[in-house]
Amino acid sequence: SYFGEQTLEKNYNTPREQAIYPSLAGKRVVVTGGGSGIGAGIVEAFARQGALVTFLDIAEKDSRALAASLAALPAPPAFVPCDLTDLPKVAQTFEIIGPVDILINNAGLQQDAPFQEMSLQQWERVISVNLTGQFLCAREAAREFLRRGVVPEVSRAAGKIICMSSVHEVIPWAGHVNYAASKGGIMQLMKSMAQELAPQKIRVNSIAPGAIQTPINRAAWGTPEALAALLKLIPDGRIGEPDDIARAAVWLASDQSDYITGATIFVDGGMTLYPGFATGG
Ligand code: BGC
Repeated sequence: SYFGEQTLEKNYNTPREQAIYPSLAGKRVVVTGGGSGIGAGIVEAFARQGALVTFLDIAEKDSRALAASLAALPAPPAFVPCDLTDLPKVAQTFEIIGPVDILINNAGLQQDAPFQEMSLQQWERVISVNLTGQFLCAREAAREFLRRGVVPEVSRAAGKIICMSSVHEVIPWAGHVNYAASKGGIMQLMKSMAQELAPQKIRVNSIAPGAIQTPINRAAWGTPEALAALLKLIPDGRIGEPDDIARAAVWLASDQSDYITGATIFVDGGMTLYPGFATGG
């Protein structure tokens, strides 16, 4: 094979490769919304890679439980309570955390309603957490990356930002216009940041998960009927797990993906492949 006698797996993380692409060990990572769901999977995956993870969340109970469950790791993650809609608090939190190498802009929520019944409050809450929250955290991280520049022993990049988007950055979503609008906004926030910051060696990318089994979409998988309906939208035939997203995030945050910027990686089991057309059209 192309890799001779060695398998791909054996080739991965050899000392030679480690010299070219430093691992995530010791990298300072901030994960927003890290207390549950996809965020918690990312916190765990990065901590297991030896990254120094600080995660932010408003849900203190879940977050403290997660931190306690990972406390025995050599590099246990740290939890800092933070409401991303509180600008002074966001700035203060990043100041307390100190230098950052990687930001995982993950925090997000849904407040669903039929369009004609959606309140301004529901609209604003989703936009301010999902979109403005990502802007504020990315701005803090970018300021730090620009101050510091590239440190070759750490990474080829001055810093990396990963935005958690959704298949709903491209799939319209009736009954969820606030959420779909926030994710469509993230697509252009991410691409425009990527374009603006690439000359300074800051990489900005998105991951767009499909249906991942977490509390945010319990209604979509909580009963056998709901799950059966959901699976019709997923060509791969299974609901995703937080670790499906976390593994993509680890790769996208590492120098393995150094030449990728401004990209959205869909991790969705094919949900964006118009599954309704598989048998007709
Ligand atoms: C939403 C989930 C939904 C999934 C696929 C995600 O962005 O948060 O509720 O199951 O998209 O539709």
